[in-house]
Amino acid sequence: MRKDWQSICRYGKQILGKIILTGDRPTGKLHIGHYVGSLKRRVELQNSGEFDQILIMIADAQALTDNADNPEKVRQNIIEVALDYLACGLDPEKSDIFIQSQVPELTELSFYYMNLVTVSRLQRNPTVKSEIQMRNFEASIPVGFFTYPISQASDITAFKATTVPVGEDQLPMLEQTKEIVRKFNAVYGETLVEPEILLPDNQACLRLPGTDGKAKMSKSLGNCIYLSDSAEEVSKKIRGMYTDPNHLKVSDPGTIEGNTVFTYLDAFCKDEHFAKYLPEYENLDALKAHYQRGGLGDVKVKKFLNKVMEEELAPIRARRKEWEQRIPEVYEILERGSKKAQGLAAETLAEVKRAMKINYFEDKELIAEQSEKYRNQAAE
Ligand code: TRP
Repeated sequence: MRKDWQSICRYGKQILGKIILTGDRPTGKLHIGHYVGSLKRRVELQNSGEFDQILIMIADAQALTDNADNPEKVRQNIIEVALDYLACGLDPEKSDIFIQSQVPELTELSFYYMNLVTVSRLQRNPTVKSEIQMRNFEASIPVGFFTYPISQASDITAFKATTVPVGEDQLPMLEQTKEIVRKFNAVYGETLVEPEILLPDNQACLRLPGTDGKAKMSKSLGNCIYLSDSAEEVSKKIRGMYTDPNHLKVSDPGTIEGNTVFTYLDAFCKDEHFAKYLPEYENLDALKAHYQRGGLGDVKVKKFLNKVMEEELAPIRARRKEWEQRIPEVYEILERGSKKAQGLAAETLAEVKRAMKINYFEDKELIAEQSEKYRNQAAE
């Protein structure tokens, strides 16, 4: 994270600013992978008071780049994502939550950035590559999908974001954004701000595996624990979680690596949890050592994980229940956030157009110069 305060120029007015922009595609409810990978951090950053502006975007336009035939899914999931945000503790008084499609300036910026990016550069983007495979797009990639890294650069630069807290999978998007910023500033003059990615510092949180031990949590694999799951659902999913397939008897020595229950403990558990729920162990290292030695059963570890996770998930679940009874208010929050975001993006777009010399009507000098030229010609 950038420690110093970066000065940012808006309309020639110097203001100091540390700005966060991040978001999620509304293609489903958010799960605990989203939570440990980014959401939890956002709430901490929000409450740190260190940031002048926090913008959280529901990326519906981006979701449509690979769900063009399913707009209803995107529409329905906007509220789910918003509820998950509020449930986790994003506070509309401190953070502006907005909907991407309601800020048309983002689309306009993308059109100009497209001139600064080559097709081969997009083809090399590892996230795009793997998503093309995942979605069987090899034969026919929609142009909109192919160019979504450019649209993501617009999302970030429109707000002059300095800090982008996201999961590791978004690294290539941030690289692309930085390249666009450098190129733009080199060609048109210093205008855009280069953002920094903020990754989780805990290795287990970087990429939380699914409950089946597969590398990624995904709705289609059915291996997610959702923030909106009930306590019973969470407990059932933990009971069925992938561990060490060779750890058959309690007395068998067990393996920690690739053992989902321990990866989740790495992500969620703190020393205090042992004093509270499992006082016979001092900390996670002691528990792991016993498991590796043999003599510790999966059921006991899973029960402990369930208690640890419940401590974090129960308040989120309760807050979600409250917000679920205030849906019109949630839409008002989104509308207010979208208007605010649009105002900010419009300022940047005006600067961009000025830098690109496509601000004809506000350029009085241009008009005067050209009038003069033709007046002189007529006088000759
Ligand atoms: N690509 C992100 C995701 O898949 C969503 C997103 C869109 C985003 N624009 C962004 C994230 C800008 C951070 C910054 O979840």
